Amino acid sequence: MAAQVVDGKAIAGAIRREVQAETQTLAAKRGRRPGLAVILVGEDPASVTYVRNKVKACEEVGIKSVQIHRPATVAREELLDIIHGLNKDETIDGILVQLPLPLHIGERSILEAVDPAKDVDGFHPSNLGGLLTGNPFFVASTPLGIMEVLDRFGVVVEGKHAVIVGWSTIVGKPTAFLLLERRATVTVCQEWTRTLAQHTQQADILIVAAGKPGLVREDMVKEGAVVIDVGINRVEGRLVGDVDFASVSPKASVITPVPGGVGPLTVAMLLKSTLMAYKARNAPKK
Ligand code: GUN
Repeated sequence: MAAQVVDGKAIAGAIRREVQAETQTLAAKRGRRPGLAVILVGEDPASVTYVRNKVKACEEVGIKSVQIHRPATVAREELLDIIHGLNKDETIDGILVQLPLPLHIGERSILEAVDPAKDVDGFHPSNLGGLLTGNPFFVASTPLGIMEVLDRFGVVVEGKHAVIVGWSTIVGKPTAFLLLERRATVTVCQEWTRTLAQHTQQADILIVAAGKPGLVREDMVKEGAVVIDVGINRVEGRLVGDVDFASVSPKASVITPVPGGVGPLTVAMLLKSTLMAYKARNAPKK
């Protein structure tokens, strides 16, 4: 049986409309729109495109966006000054530092400087810790997008075996904790995992975020598995995922394509997190 192919654009559109409606109502009441600051360092073409998409999406739903662009040679101190300024800025609810950063900057020191109450990407240790201890506040957008797909397709997570390929702090690790919280049995594989296929073949839910085009083929997937492809790879000018869509889709029950699967959801979930930050910052203090 052919898989249900996830239309990430349509789901993202629905989420964006919800965010837009709530943003309009709240901004009219409070006399201030939510604000997101996006920091981009350098000219990495993928990062430039991601940031452009995020800024455009903000404007479309009525969120104010401020883009701060510095060359790859920027000093760590300058970035820290920018973040400290944004932390204090009352018109900014969310701060996002586009990754990766140039090596000399030290990614962690920058991410840790962001006020956890404005950390819409969920990369600050206190937000990562909240997720680990079962009290999540901000969670990274891609893992949230993955959970949205599972929920919208009625995928029961409890008791299922979820296998994640890729252990990044942006996708693999937070997704593992979200799934554990929902009572899945979770296996996390990485590039050093021997016998990768033996693990992926066990998956009821297979999430692939390894950044390796065509890594998962038909023989690595169980009949009826839910397959979420988070890979975005440019091959001969085309965008492809980590899963060989043509051979795997006849075997899967649900599958996300690339492009048009998880990607649009990541941006939509960022908008939702920015609105959440705005609502929390304007909430009366207890
Ligand atoms: N680079 C790749 N994915 C992401 C993401 O979700 N957030 C940020 N800030 N940078 C990224």
